[in-house]
Amino acid sequence: MTIAVMGGDGIGPEVTAQAVKVLRHMLPNAELEWAPIGLAGIEARGKPLPDETLALAKRADAILLGSVGGSVRGLDEARLPRAERPGTGLLDLREALVLFANYRPAVLYPELIGASSLRPEVIEGLDLIILRELNGDAYFGEPRGITTTPSNERVGINTIRYTESEIERIAHAAFRCARGRRKKLCSVDKANVLEVMQLWREVVTRVGRDYPDVELSHLFIDAASMELVRKPTQFDVIVTGNMFGDILSDAAAMLTGSIGMLPSASLGHDHRGLYEPVHGTAPDIAGKDIANPLAAILSVAMMLRHSFGLEDRAAQVEAAARAVLAQGYRTADIQQPGCRLVGTREMGDAVLDALRSAS
Ligand code: NAI
Ligand code: MG
Repeated sequence: MTIAVMGGDGIGPEVTAQAVKVLRHMLPNAELEWAPIGLAGIEARGKPLPDETLALAKRADAILLGSVGGSVRGLDEARLPRAERPGTGLLDLREALVLFANYRPAVLYPELIGASSLRPEVIEGLDLIILRELNGDAYFGEPRGITTTPSNERVGINTIRYTESEIERIAHAAFRCARGRRKKLCSVDKANVLEVMQLWREVVTRVGRDYPDVELSHLFIDAASMELVRKPTQFDVIVTGNMFGDILSDAAAMLTGSIGMLPSASLGHDHRGLYEPVHGTAPDIAGKDIANPLAAILSVAMMLRHSFGLEDRAAQVEAAARAVLAQGYRTADIQQPGCRLVGTREMGDAVLDALRSAS
């Protein structure tokens, strides 16, 4: 099996290096191949997604990615042409591999209950997955761009666009996911205002008839945001579009204590997947060996589970992450009184030690 490794920018390579230690331990025979992406890609080949990176991604069984983004040659990334932005490399990669389903679990580890911004009794037992559609919505819809009106005023346009088949495939993925868990699916939309979301609700409801064992509910995005903070444990699986999913999953991230704890998997029609922490390149802490590598390490667990069907080994990695938290290891983002403050590498080593002593 071939696994593509793309560290990316900022803390991406730092956390990915720790995840790779775990990956090598769990899959000693896998072939790992490194390729540049994002800013690293621009520096190497002048493109955020160089051709050889895309070619590698296409022949790999799985991709382990750090994070991409930052400023380029002293320029603010948001001011660069779209094709040159580091983040475009990642969007192109997800689109080229038709990775349309982004699974973002938000699990509260009991050891981190004090690190959440919510009261322990509200957050205790939190275990939900946000399933974010990844190939459509305002991120890809046409028309888009900044143009000038006849009266010489600038206008910015993006288009929220979903076809029925795009909604169907993410809905099927969501019902299957809920079926394997607590059988509750909440679809989040804005059907009261947006036509595209009326279609979303209609199609999700229709697909739901194939899954009578799964309890389906619907919420508008504004109400869902409220409910996520009011009573987050009511949710099992949440399915939503690309943009709402982006925002809602960051909110869910904070419920668990730190975005540095949250892995993600982006999957398509087959076993191939892209695994990456939810967080970005964290320029404020890059290069200091203080980033939390657990999100990247837990992304390896998702890879073992979803791309290679190795549920046991996935569970071992998750148990090792829990074990180091129970032993009191903490990176700065989850530091609590009386715990042992460690850096990125030391945390990676601690997880590796926990895996070794468990086997
Ligand atoms: P961010 O996730 O990079 O950082 C947000 C905050 O969380 C910062 O205070 C950061 O220090 C902290 N943080 C993030 N990961 C952490 C970790 N592992 N350990 C400890 N603390 C951590 O989001 P932000 O600041 O909005 O974006 C920074 C750059 O990352 C931008 O260029 C953005 O476009 C890019 N980005 C890339 C993503 C990706 O590659 N998938 C996702 C999100 C943002
Ligand atoms: Mg985000």
